[in-house]
Amino acid sequence: MVAWKGLLHAYREWLPITERTPMVTLCEGNTPLIPAPNLSAKLGLDIHLKFEGLNPTGSFKDRGMVLAVAKAVEDGSRAVICASTGNTSASAAAYAARLGLRSIVLIPDGKIAYGKLAQAMMYGAEIVPVQGNFDQALDLVRSISQEHPITLVNSVNPFRIEGQKTAAFEVCEQLGDAPDYLALPVGNAGNITAYYKGFSEYRAAGHVNFVPKMLGFEAEGAAAIVRGEPIPEPETLATAIRIGNPASWNGAVQAAQESGGVIDSVTDDEILAAYKLLAREEGVFCEPASAASLAGLIKRRASGVLLPGARVVCVLTGNGLKDSDIAIQASALELHSIPATQEAVLQMILQTKGE
Ligand code: F0G
Repeated sequence: MVAWKGLLHAYREWLPITERTPMVTLCEGNTPLIPAPNLSAKLGLDIHLKFEGLNPTGSFKDRGMVLAVAKAVEDGSRAVICASTGNTSASAAAYAARLGLRSIVLIPDGKIAYGKLAQAMMYGAEIVPVQGNFDQALDLVRSISQEHPITLVNSVNPFRIEGQKTAAFEVCEQLGDAPDYLALPVGNAGNITAYYKGFSEYRAAGHVNFVPKMLGFEAEGAAAIVRGEPIPEPETLATAIRIGNPASWNGAVQAAQESGGVIDSVTDDEILAAYKLLAREEGVFCEPASAASLAGLIKRRASGVLLPGARVVCVLTGNGLKDSDIAIQASALELHSIPATQEAVLQMILQTKGE
């Protein structure tokens, strides 16, 4: 078996890499495409889960961040900055640590999952909680990076999109062809833009015959693209996609229109139901925002717009362990301790079984 050397190495010819680019890696990418037989049977589709939560910092952000931070170093930068609902900040902080850069992260005060905050802290980021939402924090870092020698590593940095497009290549390689549909959550809309770019490039190079129909799902309380206007105060329990004015709005619309797909929305209840289904039916624990992809698939299948038996890849963007608070709330289990005796344990499990 050949050891995996990370994305910059694996996809060098597809990326803007020069002799001066540091070939850094935390062994990001090469994530599994997990078949989902139980959900497939339930929905009458052929579903595969691209589990991006198995990247080194637990989300798809590592794909774009490895390139964005490497290019920052190549350009002589000593610091990176981003606004984040959590995952971008964790990833930026990890690669900055690895390459010896300062990382400054602006987060919406009180609205990021604790696991993500813990990561940014551990990797040594300078964390700035802002009394505002993601969109306001993004406006701030955009203007600060224009006026100061600090590299912006949000997905408005084109190297982020370049790195993230590699996920589309992997999906095609793992399936042996492009899927009929690709379903994914939409927040700032960088990822759907990146997947579409990746599939289009692979198709242009003759590696696959077609580009999948791109199905992007926003949370209903933050569904700016679906509504056709920015949402000043977006709300959803899926904090990762609590974004009211997506920076790559046009990229998302283009991906959906040109591929024959759609941008649609799902409610928080639909997200929670899909989140539980993934864990209980398939043994895959993703974060709530990630489950918007399956929630959207269920919604569209129910309304009869997906062809039966179609091959679908659902992108699960982040790891469930990042947001254990929501997992525990969603499970609604009350745990009562019992004496440490065989009798007490047996009584408990026999009782549970009988319920
Ligand atoms: N899923 C997860 C787990 C995310 O963290 C994000 C975005 C998305 C989906 C949406 O991706 O923005 O490319 O449309 N998180 C960003 C962050 C905003 O700051 O971590 P997108």
